[in-house]
Amino acid sequence: MNLDSPDGVRSPSPADTKHPKKLIFAPGDIETPTPTDPTTQQPTPEASAAKQATKEESAAVAAASALRTDTSTPTSATEQDLVAHAARAHQFVSNPPLTVSQLHPTNPLHQFHSWFRDPRLLPASAPETCTLATAALPSGRVSARVVYLKELDERGWTVYSNWGSREGKGRDVFGVGEAEDGPRPIPEPGAGDEDLQADLGGGNRWAALTFLWSALERQVRVEGLVEPLSREESELYWRTRERGSQIGAWASWQSKVLWRAEPETLLERRRNSLDPTLHQVPGNVEERDIDDGREVLEARVREVERRFEGVKEIPLPPFWGGVRLVPESVEFWQGRKSRLHDRFRYVKVGEEMGAPRWRIERLSP
Ligand SMILES: Cc1cc2nc3c(=O)[nH]c(=O)nc-3n(C[C@H](O)[C@H](O)[C@H](O)COP(=O)(O)O)c2cc1C
Repeated sequence: MNLDSPDGVRSPSPADTKHPKKLIFAPGDIETPTPTDPTTQQPTPEASAAKQATKEESAAVAAASALRTDTSTPTSATEQDLVAHAARAHQFVSNPPLTVSQLHPTNPLHQFHSWFRDPRLLPASAPETCTLATAALPSGRVSARVVYLKELDERGWTVYSNWGSREGKGRDVFGVGEAEDGPRPIPEPGAGDEDLQADLGGGNRWAALTFLWSALERQVRVEGLVEPLSREESELYWRTRERGSQIGAWASWQSKVLWRAEPETLLERRRNSLDPTLHQVPGNVEERDIDDGREVLEARVREVERRFEGVKEIPLPPFWGGVRLVPESVEFWQGRKSRLHDRFRYVKVGEEMGAPRWRIERLSP
């Protein structure tokens, strides 16, 4: 944002691309606040103590303990200073180590279950939140998004979504398919691998799920192959969703572009809606609400509501449902001091009586 401009908006100049302005601070580039600088806060006694410590190690520990109780974005200049200083980066010191004797000897899903059920993981922290990464073929372009884990069984980790899109994860996993109008149905599971691959139309079933449980200084990384759930299985979960979410699922062709604007148009509209005395704050809040495509979605919701009026049980959309990530490897990571973390990975090495056989390896941190 250029503050020299009276309305706070301007078009980027060629100089911007050569010397881009920093938007967030890289480690080490926040100066220690000085008493003469009125824009920064005074360090707290804890922070001052940390600064006076002669050894980097003790400064790091002080920084870690200052931040331990609040893992969210640092708010004060002092906290930012502590976080940003390279030698004082977060240290993982407050939890016991992970040893192989704590791990389930044969099954990473059971191991995951015991970590997931750890009573120190508070439900309010939403431990089921994870990041699903997928990659498009043939470009190899990777994308990742946050999703909720909904089920875990002996076969793998299940998440629910709209897979009918030719954008985002729908495209990555199930390919672009035939050009049709509207979201595509999810391929049926259980088909032979060749059939499924043909159905996938160039999709890439390799995906990864990552969980971060920062209070416990733990990470779990799952890599494997995605398989669609049966319609019956997806139906079971669909029935538990509230009606509004069901309507929403029908109404949204997820990740399809609803609206777009060229920068010139937006800058022009923004200029027209700004009160010059208030710089970047629009004079009339209503003015800010220019058409930005939301109404297209709302209209679609109204249409779906009409369509299902009087229908007691809204059916499961063919493009919506669960997929299971069937693991090929699962890593359990426990943060340790000085970045000497404990990392154990289960790697699938075959099958025994229809069940996967796992080898456990310790990874270098
Ligand atoms: C906390 C949180 C939980 C989410 N859970 C889900 C989910 O369970 N399923 C889902 O499809 N999208 C979920 N989303 C939205 C996704 O991050 C993403 O925007 C959406 O799936 C579209 O991704 P795509 O464009 O890659 O298909 C969640 C987002 C957040 C922030």
